[in-house]
Amino acid sequence: MDFTASAAQLLNIKADSLILPTGPQLKDSAEALDKSLDGAISSLIKAGDFSGKSGETLVMHIPGASGKRIILLGTEGASSPQQQIKVITAGAAALLRTPSIKAVWVGEGLADDSEWQAGMVARSIQTASYQYAPAPKGIAKTKAQKLKSVTYWAPTKADLSAAKKGLAYGSAVGNGMNVARQLGNLPANICTPDYLASQAKALAKGQAKITTSVLTEADMKKLKMGSLLSVSAGSDIPAKMIVMKYQGTKASVKPIVLVGKAVTFDSGGISLKGGNGMDEMKYDMCGGASVIGVFNALIENQLPINVVGIVPATENMPNGHATKPGDVVTSMSGQTIEVLNTDAEGRLILCDALTYAGRFKPDTVIDIATLTGAVIGALGKVTAGMLSNDDQLAEQLLSSGTRSGDRAWRLPLFEEYDELLKSNFADIANIGGPGAATITAACFLARFTKKYKWAHLDVAGTAWVSGAAKGSTGRPVPILMEYLRSKAG
Ligand code: BES
Ligand code: MN
Ligand code: ZN
Repeated sequence: MDFTASAAQLLNIKADSLILPTGPQLKDSAEALDKSLDGAISSLIKAGDFSGKSGETLVMHIPGASGKRIILLGTEGASSPQQQIKVITAGAAALLRTPSIKAVWVGEGLADDSEWQAGMVARSIQTASYQYAPAPKGIAKTKAQKLKSVTYWAPTKADLSAAKKGLAYGSAVGNGMNVARQLGNLPANICTPDYLASQAKALAKGQAKITTSVLTEADMKKLKMGSLLSVSAGSDIPAKMIVMKYQGTKASVKPIVLVGKAVTFDSGGISLKGGNGMDEMKYDMCGGASVIGVFNALIENQLPINVVGIVPATENMPNGHATKPGDVVTSMSGQTIEVLNTDAEGRLILCDALTYAGRFKPDTVIDIATLTGAVIGALGKVTAGMLSNDDQLAEQLLSSGTRSGDRAWRLPLFEEYDELLKSNFADIANIGGPGAATITAACFLARFTKKYKWAHLDVAGTAWVSGAAKGSTGRPVPILMEYLRSKAG
């Protein structure tokens, strides 16, 4: 998809579709357009065909111009970023339902910030173009579709450079989301730890700023990652730890480290899950997929920052070598862990990855994981759970969530919760009591992140949707990219 920005006379831009955001009262370019079309738009409003309500769309053909259309996009009442994103998403979906090849998106009538709005337009069009690719030859490519180019029309020349910047950023975020979605949607018999590693390597190929390396189980044994290896012990296929480095600025700048849980299938292990909906545990690698998606976006958008991505990848299965409830394992940090429930495996692989993260002298570490079912009870499928040992980092993530529409909400790490992880036989147990499971999971991780600023995103509710529209969402690529963009200045 080709994205350009222009401030030229609207009707002079060659296109077969024009997306026009407007409320019931025509203003500015909408009004001018209506005048040049002899009131064709205002008469549709008068007749009640189009109300201008937020997210409503109506496709009208331009009288006399064969095949040319205007897509009216209702904006009334859309004042928050979240509401405006919904409008843009509806516009992108409407555009892709038409056979358009070349479109113009009128950057007026909705949000004032051209960079943000153009970014959201590009992102929405990229994600609306995603189609699951069942025969994976490589990392996801958007389907061969009719729409080839989109021109974002900016009302003034001054908005033009901001819009261009936004388009490049938003397109990269959208493609990064699609990469994460594709990896998430692939079944666990294809998307194995080894497959994820090969995709991460393929992504780095020919990219000067990225290097990817993969630790094998032998490497992990040498590093004494006994906790991670206690999870992979029950699977017949080996674990991998993917390490990606993106150097977008001088080497002396401390990196932001992203750690993504990639359990390519979570059966629960010996603490076996129930059968209902167990297929969805192929999505238990969505944290790792989001890190790979972010790296895809970094390649495209070339932000001037340093980022390290760590993706511990394994299955959680119950074979004869599997870890048993009550087993005690020693983590890379030296802390011993009593595994009271083998289904609380995410934290067991993350703790070793988080210890390993310390080697990169991080500025900040963010881990991303489909960690607890309980976060769905607390926040549903709308909002990610966020916990952090640093108030400023937490604030930055909250505002990155709002700006990107990929919102998170903070939960506390009070020490009373940490006390629930007491074990009689090890330094720590891998589960707390029956309550506050999202918080006790994060308290577990917090024991391994004391040396740096750290935040945890529990995306068990937001990484995919269930039901008829079952599929990966590409979250939390948007909030992560927004945070990285804000750090790039
Ligand atoms: N991957 C699951 C979390 C999960 C469950 C995500 C359902 C989405 C939907 C995780 O490994 C897990 O099994 N967590 C347990 C923890 C419990 C044993 C303390 C859970 O949430 O039930
Ligand atoms: Mn589990
Ligand atoms: Zn899991």
